[in-house]
Amino acid sequence: MTYDYLVVGAGLFGSTFAHEAAKKGKRVKVIDKRNHIAGNIYTEKVEGINVHKYGAHIFHTNSKKIWDYVNQFAEFNRYTNSPVANYLGEIYNMPFNMNTFNKLWGVVTPEEAKAKIEEQKKASHIIQPKNLEEQAIALIGIDIYQKLVKGYTEKQWGRKASELPAFIIKRLPVRFTYDNNYFNDRYQGIPIGGYTQIVEKMLASPLIDVELSTDFFENKSYYLNHFPKIIYTGIIDQFFEYQYGLLEYRSLKFETSILNKENFQGNAVVNYTDAETPYTRIIEHKHFEFGTQPKTVITKEYPKAWEKGDEPYYPLNDKKNSDVFSKYRRLAEQTPNVIFGGRLGMYKYYDMHQVIGAALSIAEKELNS
Ligand code: FDA
Repeated sequence: MTYDYLVVGAGLFGSTFAHEAAKKGKRVKVIDKRNHIAGNIYTEKVEGINVHKYGAHIFHTNSKKIWDYVNQFAEFNRYTNSPVANYLGEIYNMPFNMNTFNKLWGVVTPEEAKAKIEEQKKASHIIQPKNLEEQAIALIGIDIYQKLVKGYTEKQWGRKASELPAFIIKRLPVRFTYDNNYFNDRYQGIPIGGYTQIVEKMLASPLIDVELSTDFFENKSYYLNHFPKIIYTGIIDQFFEYQYGLLEYRSLKFETSILNKENFQGNAVVNYTDAETPYTRIIEHKHFEFGTQPKTVITKEYPKAWEKGDEPYYPLNDKKNSDVFSKYRRLAEQTPNVIFGGRLGMYKYYDMHQVIGAALSIAEKELNS
């Protein structure tokens, strides 16, 4: 069998590309080292509930084009992301809005809330923030920082906020309305029946062959010699044999349990914002689809230092790693028959709509040339 493309990675990027290529009559082989398709958006059924295996995934976009595109592959429900923060048993709405300010200070009007935040910002006497702690206090005052930002951020990064650089937080979204919708985007929802079906349908063409549990690096030179073009969505430094060193990430550990009760926390996402609770959030999967199953499935999410071999979740886009990535990027540009894409190939945090957008624009360039 001869193929026009090898796609390394059956995640959203690789699958979008494969789908577009097959639509143009190209033959595509897709390989993935995991034993399932869909990469990190993979969902699997447990107790009749679609469990987001690699963390909570909420689809949101401002682009009608991307929204229409993804709606070809699934029907979306009306889920609106309204996470709740639990600070030592006190519950606050997120993102920071009038509900949060009312609970914190008893203020009722936007003017009162703005005055309170201004008063706290002034009281901090911070003019030039030297670290993340000072930056956050200068932006939203001490109360929100202490209850809702400090512990969560320190767990997320594994370091004290006073030792983290200020640039990590450029702004902290504050809303002076009683709107708990986390996203500002025009479109959002969860695919009814989970995300895996989206990728399944993308890859359903008879022109696409999928081979799972297949690592590109077990046969790298074979693939390079036998496929005219490769779309590579694995980690970029590994492709170039780590010649400029390792790109670093932050990782996560997920602990999932089935509970013999109908409703554990009343919301899909609850963030634990104190420093002592070791996890940053608990996901109760059934609430993404308004489930009424007799049992429930929850996942505790623990941030974790990344070591080579761990799942690389969040790129550390600091100066050191960005410089290393630029070198790999230059090598990638000199590798004519390989297109690097997706969150790992681009060493970039991408939301799902951005991954689809990036894959569509590469497909358009590649398939129309
Ligand atoms: P992805 O990692 O999904 O796919 C790459 C595939 O390549 C994997 O399947 C991997 O196994 C395979 N691969 C790698 N190396 C290989 C090799 N050597 N050989 C063969 N196969 C190989 N976005 C959003 O819009 N809303 C949200 O709520 C969230 N939530 C969220 C939570 C968490 C915890 C994270 C980390 C991320 C999100 N995201 C998100 C982002 C979302 O997960 C992301 O946009 C997509 O999964 C990226 O798709 P990719 O195809 O780029 O990578």
